[in-house]
Amino acid sequence: MNALLNSLKKTADRTSATDLRAAFAGDPERFRNFSLRFEDLLMDFSKIAINAEVLDALVRLAAEKGVEEKRAAMFAGEKINITEDRAVLHTALRNRANTPVMVDGKDVMPDVNDVLDAMGKFSEGIRSGSINGATGKAFTDVVNIGIGGSDLGPAMTTLALAPYHDGPRLHYVSNIDGAHIADTIAGLNPETTLFIVASKTFTTIETMTNAGTARKFIAEALGEEAVGHHFCAVSTALGKVADFGIDSSRVFGFWDWVGGRYSIWSAIGLPLMIAIGSKNFGAFLDGAHAIDKHFQEAPVTENLPFMLGLIGYYQRVVLGYPSRAVIPYDQRMSRFAAYLQQLDMESNGKSVTIGSEEVTTPTGPIVWGEPGTNGQHAFFQLLHQGTNIIPIEFMIAANGHETDLRHQHQLLMANCLAQSEALMKGRTLEEAKAQLLDKGMDAETADKIAPHRVFSGNRPSITFVYDALTPYALGRMIALYEHRVFVEGVLFGINSFDQWGVELGKELATGLLPVVSGSESAEGHDSSTKGLVATLLAAAH
Ligand code: F6P
Repeated sequence: MNALLNSLKKTADRTSATDLRAAFAGDPERFRNFSLRFEDLLMDFSKIAINAEVLDALVRLAAEKGVEEKRAAMFAGEKINITEDRAVLHTALRNRANTPVMVDGKDVMPDVNDVLDAMGKFSEGIRSGSINGATGKAFTDVVNIGIGGSDLGPAMTTLALAPYHDGPRLHYVSNIDGAHIADTIAGLNPETTLFIVASKTFTTIETMTNAGTARKFIAEALGEEAVGHHFCAVSTALGKVADFGIDSSRVFGFWDWVGGRYSIWSAIGLPLMIAIGSKNFGAFLDGAHAIDKHFQEAPVTENLPFMLGLIGYYQRVVLGYPSRAVIPYDQRMSRFAAYLQQLDMESNGKSVTIGSEEVTTPTGPIVWGEPGTNGQHAFFQLLHQGTNIIPIEFMIAANGHETDLRHQHQLLMANCLAQSEALMKGRTLEEAKAQLLDKGMDAETADKIAPHRVFSGNRPSITFVYDALTPYALGRMIALYEHRVFVEGVLFGINSFDQWGVELGKELATGLLPVVSGSESAEGHDSSTKGLVATLLAAAH
């Protein structure tokens, strides 16, 4: 193990024993010393057992691992995705400064701007009704068919930005399970429904199958010639889109240097643009661009994504925490954890280094979460008193959109702050006992019950606070997490931009289709798979 990491572990052994209550009592400036601000966005990491010595060691480790050089390489369009020989340039998609970004000697910005313009015209046409269905009726419903990065980004953001949604209704179909598309189209009128087929590769079995079902829905109701009016596509594979029969004027392209899980800023964001309009979509890009500049320019110790990455690495590799929870106190962010799961786990769930060797330290954590306050009434018990330490990232806006329900927002804020305070402070045995005695319990019963009411405390959390969940603030938050994943990936020493781990299951599913359809025997498969196939086939009707 690297010498710096070793000494960091030793420092951590001392620091993680730090009693956070004592740390706060001993340093009235702890909040100021361990929080950062960018615009109206605050990142408070004072409630994790970290000190200046640990931070200093982390910053040195980042320098040794070349995080800043790799950051520069990414923004400059170098092919840092070495296993696919690709640049990683989702930042160019929101490069609002419009400075040249070169890939293979060509500035990509004119193409980026052309697609954005085309998306703007198309989405405004749909919103105004000037682009309409085969029978001349305006579209009331838009169904995005895509999966993974071609679904999670637009689905999550459409929900998050509901207060800005003034376009047609949006629906998202992703699962190969026929129930998903069947339930979605059940209530829709084909005359007023537009389908977006979103797939970077235009080969993904789920998306192609659902697109076929949607095509049938339109063709059976309105005739084959209506299909062109009711479909558009988003893809990098323009040839394959043409084969599906979608007119080139309704195809919005992007490029191989945009990873699926980083594609919300590209034409994959079309459904979001249709929902909230091109002006709000522009503000969403602006927020991400602001973080890009901050990430590139701010000194490490004042740099939110950089510090978030350093802390994440510290918690995963040095402290060995296997998972982290993201808990937005915002009901509209209820798909944020799902979005982050792909962003983080598909990027950093790797076991091989960039140099093609087995990793020697843990890599990306398990990411999960639900909005508060719902999570409080489900899994928070384990977060407070379970045997695993799970770092939490809380998010809360100072203002909800429902100004007439301010009291409810106050309750939301109080709950968010109460959770991080409770996790940090805990409750000692003496405090628990005193509380019970105060309530009139006899001493013997109090002795028995009090241990159940002890909270160890010292449980780490970061809290983000921002003004309100606007398109700009959401763009900023997503970009912040993207760059955090980047920083952690460099520290882990892996390639965060490929996803070979999803391939094997896909290959085997293709081979198993004729088996579960009964046209091929299960011979050659393991006895468990054979047994499962036999059971499914015997029960099928
Ligand atoms: O799950 C693997 C994956 O390749 C993701 O990375 C991607 O976002 C998703 O499938 C969908 O791929 P496509 O946009 O090519 O249909």
